[in-house]
Amino acid sequence: MTETPFLTFPDNFLWGTATSAYQIEGAWQEDGRGISIWDTFAHQPGKTFNGATGDVAADHYHRWQEDIHIMSQISIKAYRFSISWPRIFPDGIGPVNKKGLDFYERLVDALLAVDIQPVVTLYHWDLPQALQDNGGWVNRETAYHFANYASVVAKRLGDRVTYWINHNEPMVMALAGYFFGESAPGLQDPIAAVCATHHLLLSHGLATRELRLGCLKPVKIGIALNLSVMHPASDTEADRLAAQRYDAINNLLYLEPIFRGIYPVDLLDLIGEVLSEVIKDGDMGVIAEPLDFLGVNYYSRSVVKYDPDFQFIQATTIQPQENEYSQMWEIYPSGIYELLSRLKRDYDIANIIVTENGICVPDGIDFDGRIRDYRRIWYLRDHLKQIHRAITEGILVRGYLVWSLMDNFEWNYGYQMRFGLVYVDFETLKRIIKDSGRWYSKVISANGLHVSD
Ligand code: GCO
Repeated sequence: MTETPFLTFPDNFLWGTATSAYQIEGAWQEDGRGISIWDTFAHQPGKTFNGATGDVAADHYHRWQEDIHIMSQISIKAYRFSISWPRIFPDGIGPVNKKGLDFYERLVDALLAVDIQPVVTLYHWDLPQALQDNGGWVNRETAYHFANYASVVAKRLGDRVTYWINHNEPMVMALAGYFFGESAPGLQDPIAAVCATHHLLLSHGLATRELRLGCLKPVKIGIALNLSVMHPASDTEADRLAAQRYDAINNLLYLEPIFRGIYPVDLLDLIGEVLSEVIKDGDMGVIAEPLDFLGVNYYSRSVVKYDPDFQFIQATTIQPQENEYSQMWEIYPSGIYELLSRLKRDYDIANIIVTENGICVPDGIDFDGRIRDYRRIWYLRDHLKQIHRAITEGILVRGYLVWSLMDNFEWNYGYQMRFGLVYVDFETLKRIIKDSGRWYSKVISANGLHVSD
């Protein structure tokens, strides 16, 4: 029988996993941690499935050594985690909480001790509530407070951490948090959403400068954007234009300022007036501060149709039935190749790290204690094949971080959506490495996979 082709990835490819503070840490009132907007939001009735909160989550704050041991067992080479701003500055500004910094220093040192690269996300949606009480991302001052927070963390960890991600998915923060209201802080205010977008981007540029100043070693700084490919639902002009508008709001609104120092011209009729009020001299130059890599969070594509009833952009998504779905999205692996190709073509981005890719499926523990999550293995395999295809065409993808290391708090969905390579029993907090975790370990050790794997 002929050997199936083996896809070899580049030397030093950054194989890893990703998590975020609010989704895994728990210990929400421990060691001086302040309240975040997600604590406030999740504790409001009706905001999350079954009223779930991150009060305990996966209790990573107390189990971090066990979790690092598990990472070693599955051969992880890089671990992306976020720092909880309210653990460092309980009120967002003011005195630093030493116990908070100490926790992350211990985590970083323990990762390095077993040759795992820390990939630090400074902000994964958990704004200190005290700052939200003062306007949150609508208030320009928050951008400067973020830069201060970045500076303090850089001075403590910047001699050991190489990879830094300023923000995770500012689009979700601005739209879900300030426009749709389905995420913290739960506002439904279009003007606030535009202001928040600009100040999030400004804070990204300011933090990039602070990291370069504060870190004592050469660092690689990026941002993690949830990018997708937009396909019109039909070849009608109306659907094509709707897909363009959807692309502008979800992709270009971040790519254009960060890589070109301008806002998308297609959106200026929609947001130009508000932007003109919040943009100050020099802002766009700060936002376009050069980066060392772009983090890409890819899960699926969007199929977009014209919808005259949908406010502002008259565009909405549909769910075509020709492909399989997870509990949340269509499974569309070729979309990551299409996206990576576009990023190379349109922005010639030097280095890309896939900072999130994964699938939620209803995992169960079999009679023998194993978790045979084959659909997750197939999903990861199929996306890795597409990433390898992009790499063979000269697109410089430097790493791949599976979302997620472990099952965790999936925001509004609570704990019903399991994304982990490691199963978490949220009653006992016991961890069980799934078959996908063992499969991923083999891929990492071989630095590649067979096409039929
Ligand atoms: C996101 C966030 C993660 C999610 C993951 C699954 O992209 O929404 O970065 O916190 O948990 O993507 O939805």
